[in-house]
This record gives sequence, structure tokens and C-alpha cells, in this order.
Amino acid sequence: MTTLVPLPGHPQIARRDGVLYIENIALDTLAREYGTPLFVYSKQWILDALDAYQRGLSGRDALICYAVKANSTLGVLRVLAQAGCGFDIVSGGELARALAAGADPARVIFSGVGKTRAEMRQALDAGIGCFNVESEAELEVLDAVARQTGRRAPVSLRINPDVDPKTHPYISTGLKGNKFGIAHERALAAYQHAARLPGLEIIGIDCHIGSQITAAAPYLDALDRMLDLIERIEAAGIALRHIDLGGGLGIDYNGETPPSAEVLWQQLLARLDARGFGQRRLLVEPGRSLVGNAGVCLTEVLYTKPGAAKNFCIVDAAMNDLPRPAMYEAFHRIEPVRARAGLAETVYDVVGPICESGDWLGRERALAVHAGDWLAVLSVGAYCMSMASNYNSRPRASEVLVSGAQATLIRRRETLADQLRCESD
Ligand code: LLP
Repeated sequence: MTTLVPLPGHPQIARRDGVLYIENIALDTLAREYGTPLFVYSKQWILDALDAYQRGLSGRDALICYAVKANSTLGVLRVLAQAGCGFDIVSGGELARALAAGADPARVIFSGVGKTRAEMRQALDAGIGCFNVESEAELEVLDAVARQTGRRAPVSLRINPDVDPKTHPYISTGLKGNKFGIAHERALAAYQHAARLPGLEIIGIDCHIGSQITAAAPYLDALDRMLDLIERIEAAGIALRHIDLGGGLGIDYNGETPPSAEVLWQQLLARLDARGFGQRRLLVEPGRSLVGNAGVCLTEVLYTKPGAAKNFCIVDAAMNDLPRPAMYEAFHRIEPVRARAGLAETVYDVVGPICESGDWLGRERALAVHAGDWLAVLSVGAYCMSMASNYNSRPRASEVLVSGAQATLIRRRETLADQLRCESD
């Protein structure tokens, strides 16, 4: 008899008769066919996640701009472009990727504290929808570059609303001590400065308070502070066509219960309506919440190594593929692809082959595994492949997109020749 047990937080991943499936494909089939480490994404999970935003914002003048940094693989971007998404980019490279995936340039917005002149020119030439400007110095440079190219740059100012998103310090961005945005108390002066620059056209205001946020309250606080500011800016005669509340909504890595995008937006829209801003154009920049739980990373157990203080399970994926545990002590669930009946569990630290003690993927995990088994590291759709490196001269992994019973290779494994391509001795 087939038993189907979906994993919590991962509706597209389920165990059937002891084997993990993503949509309708057994993960061991994919590991065998494509090798490991291997990233596998569920297209349906991505579309369902996008649908939650679209439902939450339905009937409003709204644009969902996927934050490309979360996962910038062309095959993933194309799924979102075809579903009508805009894109939030932070570099010329991300712009090139979004355009290659079929993005409408008018639906691209450009964030980031350190845009270069060359990137500004590239984005102006492409005709992007908005520059999210992060400092007064950047306003001056963008004005000059726009005038040189004979265009007016559409701009929004990123305001730092100084609210605590209660997340990891490395990924909280809306507090006073962060490098991001223009201080709340400087905002009006910065808008007046922008209004005097002929190369700029002010179209909006934006903020982004952090990432992996698991409650609605920080968003409501940020929204209130932004609306206070908009009232003051507009009273000074500067009209703002759109409000962009950034990204940041969290996902379930280990039992977290963030609000769904739909519920979050119901609450935010109620506040916007109550304060008379319900008709304003809205932008959002979600990254993790559109792709994070769509992905798993398959890895092979190379060795098990019993130790006096700890047992190690050494696998062929490492911190170069999955950097989040090493960087943020992040938790990712780890599941055997095929459950082993009759083998007792041992508590392991799951580690990669890289020569650093920081190269761990999971600590103190009870697993029943032998060398040669495959493990699935869960919730790796966001900020894993896009942050992957070649450290220890390891080739970057392959990626497969699954839709129903169909798997498509969307990135082949890097070869050693790929790695040497840009170098000369
Ligand atoms: N908009 C801006 C301006 C951002 O800086 C970010 C993320 C986003 C949108 C998307 O945020 P999301 O919806 O994905 O939370 N590498 C870290 C996360 C860094 C987030 C940086 N900014 C991690 O692995 O947790």
C-alpha cells in the first residue's frame, strides 16, 4: 500500500513507501541520473507561493518584484517571468539574467547601496521601471549619469524606518545601525534634494526591513512609519505614485510559523485602507518566500566517522554549495532519501569535505544511514545556489526543475575546465 506523507512546510515533498518524492518524481531517481550534489526545485511550489501574493494583492494596483538574489538561475527566473512577475535586482549581472529570462524591463527595479555608474547606464539603457536609491550621494551620481544618457531616471528613495524585524543580525536591514537606506529623519530633505535634480523623476518610496521575518507586526510598524513620512513628503508638494514595502517574509525551516503572504497582505491592506492609501500602487520584493521551500539539495554520504566526542556523517555537499549554516548558523532539515528499516539511528554532525571546521550542514542529527546513501537537505531554494562558490576548487552543483513527473536540467554541473576558463598562469 502506498502511504503518502507530506513533510511539514513542504507540500510538494512527501514520502511514499519510504522514499522521498518531489511532486511526482522519486528523489533517488534524480540523484542516480544527475549525480550529487544536486539541487532540485518544485515548479508548483514556486507558482503556489506566487499565487499567495497574487491572492493577497488581488484587486489592487500591485507589482510583485521577485528578489533575484534569492535564486538567480535562469530556469527559476523564467518560471516567475512567465507567471507575470517583475524583478528586484541589485547588480548589472542580475539585470542581464532577468532580461535573458524574458523579464519586462519596465517591471524591473534596481536596489542596492553600491550601484556603479556602469550599472546605472546599463539599467537606463534597458529602460527599467525604478531605481531604489539608498543615499543622497547616489542621487547626485544617478542624476549625472541620466543626464549624460539623455534620460530621466525613475527613482524611489529607500527609507530606513528603524524598526526591529527580530531576525538574525546579518539579515536585519531596517535598523539605524545598518548600512541600508536613508535615515527616516533625513527622508524629507533627501526627497527635496531629489526634486531639484533634473535627471531624476520621483515616482515612489521604498523600505526593506530584513529577511526571514516570521510575524506581521514589524511590517505593520514599518508601514505606519512610512505612511507618516509620505504624508509629510506629499504635504511638501512631492507626489509619490507607489509604495514599495520590500521583501523579507520568512519560511518554515524548522517549525517557524510565518503568516502566509495572503494573510500578511490582508492585514497590510486593511491598514492602508484605514489610513486612506488603499488606492496607491504597491510594490513588493519577495525572495525567500517565493523559492525557499521549493528546493532540496541531494547529497551522498561518503563516510560515517565515529568519534569520541561526536560522530560525523561526511557528505559530498559542502559550505560552498550550502553556505547558510556556516554563515548564519542556519538550520536546514536533513532527511534520508530512502528510509532504512531496521537500522538504528545515530546522532551525527553532518559535514562537508571542505577544510574548515565551519563546513557543517547540520548538527546533532539522528540519522539511520550508511555510506552510499543519499540525504536531502531541505529548504534550500533561496540563498544557496545563488551564494555558492568554488571554494576548495569544487565545481558548482547541477540544478533540476521538476514539474509533475517531468524533470528538466536547468544548470549542468560545472566542469574543471569551466573553473579554469578565466585564468592564465
Ligand atoms: N529587497 C531587498 C532590498 C533586499 O535586500 C532583500 C534581501 C530582499 C528584497 C529579499 O528579501 P527576502 O524576501 O528574500 O527575505 N543570505 C541571507 C538573506 C539575505 C537577504 C538580503 N536581502 C540568508 O540566507 O538568509
